[in-house]
Amino acid sequence: MNVSVEDAGALGHSHAGAFSPAHAPRTSAEPYARFGATALRAAAVFWFIVTAAGQLIFATYIAGFYGRATLAGRPALWNKVMPHGYVAGDTFFNLVLGVHLAFAFVITVGGLMQLTPAIRRRVPALHRWTGRAYLIAAALMATGGLMMIWVRGGAPGDVTANVIISFNALLILTCAALAWRRARVRRFDLHRRWALRLFLAVSGVWFFRIGLMFWIVVNRGPVGFDPDSFTGPALIVLGLLAYFLPQGVAGLYFRAQQSRSKSAKFAMASGLTVLSLVMAVGVAAAAAIMWLPRL
Ligand code: HEM
Repeated sequence: MNVSVEDAGALGHSHAGAFSPAHAPRTSAEPYARFGATALRAAAVFWFIVTAAGQLIFATYIAGFYGRATLAGRPALWNKVMPHGYVAGDTFFNLVLGVHLAFAFVITVGGLMQLTPAIRRRVPALHRWTGRAYLIAAALMATGGLMMIWVRGGAPGDVTANVIISFNALLILTCAALAWRRARVRRFDLHRRWALRLFLAVSGVWFFRIGLMFWIVVNRGPVGFDPDSFTGPALIVLGLLAYFLPQGVAGLYFRAQQSRSKSAKFAMASGLTVLSLVMAVGVAAAAAIMWLPRL
């Protein structure tokens, strides 16, 4: 996978490259135009910092809770969070869930490594190998998740919620296939876009968790869903937002990057900053309520 948060800054450079600074006529709009690209880049970096902090806490929870229970030979402890997680005697699906949890850690840390510019610049070979591992992990997570829902059964939520997360699994598989194929034919411009879309699709379950905690905190309790059966309209809307809104935002971001319009860049930078602030609240709430207390 070949994508980086640096991509945010590529626009400024590529457009600047179209001019020769020595000969280009200076206009009063120029600093403003540059400021648009800088604002967009800054918003992308801010988004990445919030995402990295939140996903590192999520990865710490996966390793600290599930990893510790598994290494201690007590997988039944998984059921403190997932009532139907470990089922005594069901060796196959216990293994599928165990692999899912192990790769949940790998894919979360691996995704952040892929987006970190310094790693990509200084150790490109590591970046390529992590990218291959990321694609395999994404395929395993999506197919394992689909099997747990539709073959084993008993996953949380109603049929609609299960259908929605299944579309997220299909999205993961599609983005992974396209990111891989575009790299094979050396279309790295398109590869980067599909790799970023893959990262967002893989992060869907994480967006869902921080979105849920944001919703509970702003409403001061569970509103629009039943916390016992984990069903209700709020969870359906949240699923759609968590899995598909990031794809729409990515599309707008790519357009703003390419656009010559300063207003488009500023609008995108502002929208992304607002979304990142909402995410920051969700991350803080998820860490305080869901993840850190279980360590
Ligand atoms: C690709 C990124 C994914 C990550 C990082 C991830 C992570 C996790 C984690 C950490 C859990 C344990 C529950 C918790 O502590 O929150 C879990 C459980 C589960 N995941 Fe995923 N998951 C991913 C994708 C998927 C997908 C795409 C599906 C479905 C198509 C799926 C289906 C499930 C199911 C069915 C469980 C068991 C829930 C239960 O029995 O209570 N996961 N996942």
